[in-house]
Amino acid sequence: VGGREIVVVANRLPVDRVVETDGTASWRTSPGGLVTAMEPVVRELGCLWVGWSGGADEDLPPFEAEGMRLVPVPLSGDDLEGYYEGFANGTLWPLYHDVIAQPGFHREWWESYERVNRRFAEVVAHEAPRDAIVWVHDYQLQLVPALLRALRPDLTIAFFLHIPFPARPLFAQLPWRREIVEGLLGADVVGFQREQDAASFRAAAERYADALAHGNLLRLSAEDDDPSRSVLAQEFPISIDADAFAALATRPEVRRRAEEIREELGNPRTVLLGVDRLDYTKGIRHRLKAFAELLDEGEVTVGEAALVQVASPSRERVAAYRRLREEVERTVGRINGEHGSIAHTPVVYLHQGFSREEMAALYLAADVLVVTALRDGMNLVAKEYVACRSDELGVLVLSEFTGAADELRRALLVNPHDIEGMKAAFLRAIHMPEKEQQRRMRGLRAVVQGNDVRHWAENFLRASSSMAEQRAAAD
Ligand code: G6P
Repeated sequence: VGGREIVVVANRLPVDRVVETDGTASWRTSPGGLVTAMEPVVRELGCLWVGWSGGADEDLPPFEAEGMRLVPVPLSGDDLEGYYEGFANGTLWPLYHDVIAQPGFHREWWESYERVNRRFAEVVAHEAPRDAIVWVHDYQLQLVPALLRALRPDLTIAFFLHIPFPARPLFAQLPWRREIVEGLLGADVVGFQREQDAASFRAAAERYADALAHGNLLRLSAEDDDPSRSVLAQEFPISIDADAFAALATRPEVRRRAEEIREELGNPRTVLLGVDRLDYTKGIRHRLKAFAELLDEGEVTVGEAALVQVASPSRERVAAYRRLREEVERTVGRINGEHGSIAHTPVVYLHQGFSREEMAALYLAADVLVVTALRDGMNLVAKEYVACRSDELGVLVLSEFTGAADELRRALLVNPHDIEGMKAAFLRAIHMPEKEQQRRMRGLRAVVQGNDVRHWAENFLRASSSMAEQRAAAD
């Protein structure tokens, strides 16, 4: 981008360091949509990536893995408790997802969040080449833009929030709302998934930081040594590397594996699939309830339909996640106990992470993908499914409360709180004629291919450079 280097900063590095019981260490792809989306971008642009390595108390030097230059930021056991499990995932995550779980407001967590954000800003200030573009990601690092601008005024600073930004009455609950808004306003561009998130942020900036909104621009007032400047706060809906998923899904071994999966499931007429981190925002309980009622009522019979639920382990030391796991596992046990037979298991529950190849095979094996999140910034799983289905078959059932629903209008859209509505959508998906599947899937594929992650990154970086040029011209 204009010959300038790009530095990506995210809480996690794209690879997690796993230490085996025998002491040997290896790297594995980190969980979550942020990494899925950013990895191809970083590879192609050759960015530096600054982030945490996934372990406690590890002080690792910068290294290269899979062609990416990575700079680890160490987190101590206390940081994990206060910053990561505490403020990031016990306060911000539930608050930004419509308070589906109760956020905790604890001053020690906030102090830890500030401390760790400062550490990230210092590492970046040390590593970033002159005039680089620093691209900060997600809710864990909202203070980094302003901290970094104070340390390195030469940098172009951009921020992207992968999760929703809360509506005004919810954000107002946060005791540190002013600090968060000021932290984000250190960036030249603050990007969001949906128009509605950007609008909520602009309202918060006007209220808590005396900014003035003109369209998507926020005008900040001049301070003593800092001339007045503008921040662009706008939506940039994220995507995936659609071609890479499509290519994966055409590999002969992946297609063979998809057939094998259906056989292993006992060749049911319909395979439904859910793929989520085991997170309370994903509506897994609601989905199971709808499926269980269809079995209870005889609308769906075991052997004819099976639901495969991949629920990858996530944030297991946070209480709300432990409770969710117990509830989901109890529910799956009950459904299988009541409706299973020696030959058939109605819900195949997998509390595991899988490789991209295995995921592509699962997408090909699934007649219906069910995404029933109660709130989700985007939901890239929906886009992955669509990208893999070059056969133009398969049905996407998609919650209205995902960012993806703004774009993927040809999915069967559902309100996951409406169990009857979901049951009707599941039945419609199960019985949908191939012609209609094709018509819808074609429309969905055009959207995903038209806005893939390269396109997204280009738009975002172009907007960032142009804001920085305007700032330089005004200085
Ligand atoms: C979501 C968040 C990411 C996060 C990922 C995995 O996608 O937006 O920032 O990295 O979940 O969660 P974890 O807590 O394991 O990093």
